[in-house]
Amino acid sequence: MPNDSSKTYCLLRFPLVLLLLFLVFSSFPNTGSPPQHFFSIALSPPFHHTNALQSSSPSSSLYSPPIPITKRSNLEKREEELRKARTAIRRAVKFKNYTSNEDVTYIPTGQIYRNSFAFYQSHTEMMKRFKVWSYKEGEQPLVHDGPVNDIYGIEGQFIDELGNVMGGRFSAGQPEEAHAFFLPFSVANIVHYVYKPITSSADFNRDRLHRIFNDYVDVVARKYPFWNQSNGADHFMVSCHDWAPEVSDSKPEFFKDFIRGLCNANTSEGFRPNIDFSIPEINIPKGKLKPPFMGQPPENRTILAFFAGRAHGYIREVLFNHWKGNDRDIQVYDGLTKGQNYHELIGHSKFCLCPSGYEVASPREVEAIYSGCVPVVISNNYSLPFSDVLDWSKFSVEIPIDKISEIKRILQKIPHDKYLRMYKNVMKVKRHFVVNRPAQPFDVIHMILHSVWLRRLNIQLPS
Ligand SMILES: *[C@@H]1O[C@H](CO)[C@@H](O)[C@H](O)[C@H]1NC(C)=O
Ligand SMILES: *[C@@H]1O[C@H](CO)[C@@H](O)[C@H](O)[C@H]1NC(C)=O
Ligand SMILES: *[C@@H]1O[C@H](CO)[C@@H](O)[C@H](O)[C@H]1NC(C)=O
Ligand SMILES: *[C@@H]1O[C@H](CO)[C@@H](O)[C@H](O)[C@H]1NC(C)=O
Ligand SMILES: *[C@@H]1O[C@H](CO)[C@@H](O)[C@H](O)[C@H]1NC(C)=O
Repeated sequence: MPNDSSKTYCLLRFPLVLLLLFLVFSSFPNTGSPPQHFFSIALSPPFHHTNALQSSSPSSSLYSPPIPITKRSNLEKREEELRKARTAIRRAVKFKNYTSNEDVTYIPTGQIYRNSFAFYQSHTEMMKRFKVWSYKEGEQPLVHDGPVNDIYGIEGQFIDELGNVMGGRFSAGQPEEAHAFFLPFSVANIVHYVYKPITSSADFNRDRLHRIFNDYVDVVARKYPFWNQSNGADHFMVSCHDWAPEVSDSKPEFFKDFIRGLCNANTSEGFRPNIDFSIPEINIPKGKLKPPFMGQPPENRTILAFFAGRAHGYIREVLFNHWKGNDRDIQVYDGLTKGQNYHELIGHSKFCLCPSGYEVASPREVEAIYSGCVPVVISNNYSLPFSDVLDWSKFSVEIPIDKISEIKRILQKIPHDKYLRMYKNVMKVKRHFVVNRPAQPFDVIHMILHSVWLRRLNIQLPS
């Protein structure tokens, strides 16, 4: 296993961390920050960092692996492509315009985006340029496989789609051509196949998970130069399992630049919004990709707010204490009776309560969005999916835990025209949460990949 001493150089993390994630993707309204400001930051990378890998520090040449000339020019080529993409995105932001040589299927516009020009251009650049190498090492079912149904289903769908169908478009033919590297292991499968039988709480010990993960990284970091070249900063994983954030816990320093796509995106448990990215939890029915659409038009939505689910975790306890079986407008159930249809009830509700359970993520945000119900996020420290692109405040409501008793008052106070706007935005944002096989531009699989793309644009590897 490579150890921490390999990290004697400092990765060039652009001021772009600020830039792309928080400037480009935050809107530039008429009064907003002038684009020139953005440009000046963007065009002056911290020069003193650029040669970090070959810095005169005697130790760095000892520890950094020698990069053969061919590799180096490959790396330069990849960096040049990323530089062009950044330039195009900046241009789109500055001129509020974009260029596209794709057949345009969809043009993002409107409030749901932090900056629709930046997003459109960035997505276009991704389609045009992004190449990912999915490591081939390892065997099913722990690697190259994952659950494709139920609440962790997005994990297997992504692994499968990237490995097979989408392969054509985003797969690098050679690892040397890749901008990013995917570690295609499934935390859900590791837990499912390795963690059994469970006879005592000691059997939950995360050592086995750490060992499998560390061994995998060890193998690819020895076999190929890529992990060491970037400290893992262009390497990523995608997992929806509750335990996924813990894979890197045994060596937090070593994995400090590694990109984790997580459903369990709890900022109090080590989720880092600039490096990691949040993916939606989606309850994928068996044999289908989404539940039936039973959404009614707004005028038919007679329930103000709806929730049905188990009493998992402290937030729902508070919710049940206040609202269970109490109120005609705020309908909160811990189980539905025969004859009640979950999706039909969502389809008849204006707002859908999405309280966290044992972990921050819940499939309810997506269920609500699919059915045109405005999500009401009730959570703590939850970094919402794709929020560097999407402005959740335009299609959801956030209610802090200590305001649970005021849910009815808060929702009733929302003016009808504002509700209608949010409803329309929910219907619009839906395409970014839909699972398609094969994946389609702007759908959830592309949004996940775009999250990686954005983080890759944020760093420049020293060459
Ligand atoms: C990467 O670094 C580790 C130790 O830091 C070393 O064991 C490994 O061989 C290196 N990989 C390559 C491909 O040189
Ligand atoms: C955007 O660019 C296109 C082609 O480059 C041009 O035809 C169009 O007028 C531009 N629109 C704006 C608003 O500048
Ligand atoms: C987590 O949430 C609590 C309560 O809202 C807040 O006090 C705390 O600062 C948050 N922590 C982080 C890391 O955001
Ligand atoms: C809305 O409700 C009305 C009256 O109940 C009903 O006739 C109509 O079919 C409903 N609309 C839809 C789209 O189901
Ligand atoms: C997020 O993590 C913190 C720290 O472990 C925990 O207290 C909090 O309950 C978590 N949030 C949710 C909604 O589970």
